[in-house]
Order: sequence, then structure tokens, then C-alpha cells
Amino acid sequence: MGEVTARLEDLPLRPDLVGQTPYGAPQAPLPVALNVNENTHPVPQEVADDILDSIALALRDVNRYPDREFTALREGFADYLGHGLTREQLWAANGSNEVLQHLLQAFAGPGRTAFGFGPTYSMYPLLTRGTGATWTAGTRAADFTLAPDDAASQVSEAAPDVVFLCSPNNPTGTPLGLDVVEAVYEATDGIVIVDEAYHEFAPRDERSALTLLGGRERLVVSRTMSKAFAFAGARVGYLAADPALIDALRLVRLPYHLSALTQAAATAALRHAPTMLGMVDEIVAQRDRISATVEALGYTAHESWSNFVLFGGVADPTQTWNSLYDAGVLIRDVGIAHHLRVTAGTEDETTAFLDALASVGSAP
Ligand SMILES: Cc1ncc(COP(=O)(O)O)c(C=O)c1O
Repeated sequence: MGEVTARLEDLPLRPDLVGQTPYGAPQAPLPVALNVNENTHPVPQEVADDILDSIALALRDVNRYPDREFTALREGFADYLGHGLTREQLWAANGSNEVLQHLLQAFAGPGRTAFGFGPTYSMYPLLTRGTGATWTAGTRAADFTLAPDDAASQVSEAAPDVVFLCSPNNPTGTPLGLDVVEAVYEATDGIVIVDEAYHEFAPRDERSALTLLGGRERLVVSRTMSKAFAFAGARVGYLAADPALIDALRLVRLPYHLSALTQAAATAALRHAPTMLGMVDEIVAQRDRISATVEALGYTAHESWSNFVLFGGVADPTQTWNSLYDAGVLIRDVGIAHHLRVTAGTEDETTAFLDALASVGSAP
């Protein structure tokens, strides 16, 4: 064993997966990693200590299967989100990617269609096709915004079973109005998912789509602990929706899909939500500093309500990406012509990126 004995082409792969490419953000051990929109600030020590205590306690019972209904964690999410939500309206999984996968397994699948407005989060088509469903991409205005009428008419024409609305949108950072959510919901009989992975980075007084859940049993709002909560490595995502929709997800999840250790860690982290979210203002300040500085360097920064900035006017993205790489800074080429995306890091990381970009000097 150990030597390569077969190629992918030699295996009886599902025909609809032939030729597809897996998710592949480069993983490189560079000093400044600003390519996958993590929170680059570590978990504060006092929180890490409490999480460790909770994990130690959970470990004593690890010979048993965990709580299949992750009751304490769902209560923690209901408390954190507010809006009068109860645990019956909450669901969680190993990252919001798995939450989205559960939704697609229950509501998409063979013969069905999921829809999103491109460019948008690259995992939506991959997760969709993984369930055997078809992906359909709609369009946005040149500045990546979406108007309610246009969004509704595209959705009504495509007649999908599942619609993704990324709010704010990845990889562009573009805000999404609640009027778009309302209009799209009216335009379809399918499930409407508002992915609020980056919601905590939006202006403080901005309303969440959670406020629209009442009376809309096909509406879902998904969130993650991977971004603002600095918990990407723990893999915890969640959603809020009508209890009947949550019941549908029980049909497709694996039994005991959230380990006892994950449940203990996430429940403990939620007890410290204000501390865990303590770096959000600083990250937003670095994001705005990136936008202002790349503009001063001659690039175009797209409005962002997230923890990253998409900037355009890059003459040769591959060349700029490589030069930054050589300077020890990893950012993301998201495949939009003449654009690159960078995550807002700590002040030092952000300075390293901006200095490296200034010395590349490939703005037109
Ligand atoms: C818009 C959006 N949704 C969902 C996710 C998935 O995050 P996770 O699976 O870590 O919760 C990401 C990650 O980058 C994202 O950008």
C-alpha cells in the first residue's frame, strides 16, 4: 500500500460528479493569512479556560453518545439571537456549511433546483450538486447590489426549490436589504435561506432577517460561529426557522452529528458572547482602513458589511496575488476579473498586507 493504484477516472463515481472540482482555498503556512475570512484574533484566555473546563467535564461522559438534540446549545443560540426565539426554532451542525447541507438534503436533491445571485458563496453550488440537485445562478447589478423587483422576477422565472440570499454577500461584501428578502419570499413557493454568516460585522442598528421569520414558515436564517465568534476551528454553525422546518432537518442529519465536545465548547463560548465578540469593532475598523487605503493606492474598494474587502482595478490578479504571497501575505483570488479579496486581520496583519500591496504597485 501507499503507492497510487487508481485514478479518479477509474472509479465508478456518480456521473453528475464527474469533472467537478472540490472546494480548494489554498492552505499555505504564511505569516499573514487573510484568505478565508476567519477572525484572526485568538479566543481570549479567560474564555479559553472556561471552554477547557467544560470540555473536561464532557470528556467524563464521552463513553456515551451525546445529546442528539443538543438542547443546551440550542437554548444558548436562542438566548444569543434574542427576537423571542425558542430552542424549537434553532438547529446547529458542524459549521454552517453542514447546516446548509442539511437544508439542501431535505429540500433540494435529485430533480430539484437551488438558486443564488452570482457572484456569491462558492459552496452553494457545490453543496447543491452534492445532493444531486441542479444549481442555477442569477445576476446582480454591476456594483453587485440586488434590487427587490429584479431579484423577485429572476426567482419567479427560475422557479427554484431553494433560494440562497447571502447577507452580506461573500465574496463581494455587499449589503442586502430586507426588502429583497420579502420580495423574493413572495416570488417563490420554495425555501428561502438568508445566510447571515457575517451579520455581526454590519452596522449595529441594522435589522437581521430574523425579524422577518414570524409568519414565514419557508424562511431560514443561517449563522456561524466561525467569523465574529473566532471559532472557525471548532466547526459550529446554526440556523433559526419555523419548528416544522427544523423537523425536516431531523430526517437527514446523522444521528449524534454534534459531538459532546463540540456541544460543550460552543455552549461555553456562548456564555461569553460579549467577550468573544469583543474584537468585532476592531476588525470593522481594520476593514474600513483597508477600503480607504486601497482606494488611496488607486484600486476600487466595494462597500463591505463583512470582515473582508473585495477590491477591483487589479491589472493582473495572479501577478499581484503571487507578489503578496512572496511577501508572506495570503489573500484570495475569487475568480472575479481584475479583483482580489482580503480579510481584515489584526492591526499588524492589516499593515503587513497594505505595505505589501503598496510595494506591488500594479494598480492602473
Ligand atoms: C457566506 C458564508 N456562509 C457560510 C460559510 C461557512 O462557514 P462555516 O461552515 O465555517 O460556518 C462561509 C464561510 O466562509 C461563508 O462565507
